Amino acid sequence: MNQTPNTISLFEVNATNTPAVQIFASLHHKAFQNIGQKSWSESEVTSLLSSESIHGFLLQENQVPYGFVMIRLVDIEAEVITLGLDPHYQQLGYGRFLLYETLKILRLFKVKKVFLEVREDNIKAIHLYKTFKFRKIGVRSKYYQTLDRKLIDALTFKLEI
Ligand SMILES: CC(C)(COP(=O)(O)OP(=O)(O)OC[C@H]1O[C@@H](n2cnc3c(N)ncnc32)[C@H](O)[C@@H]1OP(=O)(O)O)[C@@H](O)C(=O)NCCC(=O)NCCS
Repeated sequence: MNQTPNTISLFEVNATNTPAVQIFASLHHKAFQNIGQKSWSESEVTSLLSSESIHGFLLQENQVPYGFVMIRLVDIEAEVITLGLDPHYQQLGYGRFLLYETLKILRLFKVKKVFLEVREDNIKAIHLYKTFKFRKIGVRSKYYQTLDRKLIDALTFKLEI
């Protein structure tokens, strides 16, 4: 995507910032409910963000948040724990921008290897990761349970940066 306005930014969410945690949980709910997957409660988001190795960010434009990402940093390795967008903002190039900015942050932290997991039927996300040259390194059988109780494999992807 080449037409990203300059006003888009990533805002770090601390566990103690209750309004930002609420927005994170609300966006997570909208993004994942839309694909039939369980979302995180505010207390789950707070609990994750309370860990020293975990960082969360909101993607916002003119202070209107519509995307989120959470990463875990362990030395030179990182995991993208979750990432997503309000469905109204999907398929407009923002997911690509969010992942691009996330990788920029990870490079600042001197990360060399990035891992993530994705549902094997999440075609959009898989397409996005592949265009960043993530490669599939494994499968976790029946790892995800959908809201309608189907069990779906997770694909593990890795990128060296
Ligand atoms: C996955 C997600 C973050 C992608 O963000 P997005 O803003 O919708 O995607 P973008 O507009 O940046 O497009 C990224 C790429 O996916 C492609 N894409 C978009 N919709 C697609 C579709 N229905 N099928 C296949 N590819 C698709 C785009 O064409 C683009 O590739 P291109 O640049 O080569 O054309 C977003 O859809 C989302 O929040 N989904 C719900 C939550 C989720 O699945 N998170 C990931 C969990 S691992």
